[in-house]
Amino acid sequence: MQEKTATTFKTQFATEVYDGLTTYPKHLSSKYFYDERGDRLFQQIMEMPEYYLTNAEFDILSTHKETIVDQFVEGADQINIIELGAGDGKKTKILLEHMAGRKISFKYTPIDISRNALDSLEMSIQNELPDVVVSTRQGTYFEVLKHLSTLNGSRKVILFLGSNIGNLLHPDAVDFLSRLQHVMTDDDLLFVGFDQKKDPQRILDAYNDATGITEAFNKNILHRINNELGGNFNPDHFKHWEVYDPETGTAKSFLVSRKLQTVRIESLDLEVSFNPWETIHTEISQKYDDGIVHWLAGKAGLIVSAIFSNQDKGYKDYIFKKDIK
Ligand code: AVI
Repeated sequence: MQEKTATTFKTQFATEVYDGLTTYPKHLSSKYFYDERGDRLFQQIMEMPEYYLTNAEFDILSTHKETIVDQFVEGADQINIIELGAGDGKKTKILLEHMAGRKISFKYTPIDISRNALDSLEMSIQNELPDVVVSTRQGTYFEVLKHLSTLNGSRKVILFLGSNIGNLLHPDAVDFLSRLQHVMTDDDLLFVGFDQKKDPQRILDAYNDATGITEAFNKNILHRINNELGGNFNPDHFKHWEVYDPETGTAKSFLVSRKLQTVRIESLDLEVSFNPWETIHTEISQKYDDGIVHWLAGKAGLIVSAIFSNQDKGYKDYIFKKDIK
């Protein structure tokens, strides 16, 4: 078989699948969990009792909306609430509704790569909160943010909820936060959700539910390879496996081959062999404490200006500002 290089493939998905399955140990990126089926499975995860993250953040926003919004608006005439990866906006609507009720002058700008996701979010906000001005932006976060930072006048309040940051390794999280810091002015704010270290069993249960929804979500990447790259993975031949290291705060998801097998991926002209119990690492879901969050902020040129916790302190939202010292 001809040796392939990264540039041979048409899409980034194809390139990353090739690279991840031809290296040792094998890995695939969790960003590829999310096609239409993956989005639906993630919606179901957010409704599972084991997946405490969504309710925890919902509680923080409901309980502290007044103080949070006070900080968003203090000293600003105009606010632009910019959300990265809003999903169905269920949590954000708590803040939007509260702001509309206080007759605060603001605009809501959700950014997403998917036009579909933005259209349904816009429609649901227009139905539920007709007074809110929504201006959707399709594209990658940084393309859009760069463009928005050239339009001055209102304070940007950038939201990144759901502990989405936890799907990044620390160096990538620092890089991500630094890039946000660079598009922020001294007056702008960044509001980010970080799931906290807690009883390791609770974390394992959240990522290894008895109903198998998380397993299906993890295996969706194999479905995508089958559908989009002509793969012949049999997802039943892999086992979903979750580990959590309480020292580092890192939860890791794997797909583990149940047997010796070879998988063909047609459009990559690739045969991948798996030894019995060989792993594909698919996702990290990092858990934090205040010390790690302050450290990440410092590395990214940000300072923590406020912290909001849920009742059991298992989840926190932080407000960051640019460090202007
Ligand atoms: C989107 N992200 C923050 C979720 C998480 O908790 O890492 C994705 C997820 N993976 C398994 N369950 C949920």
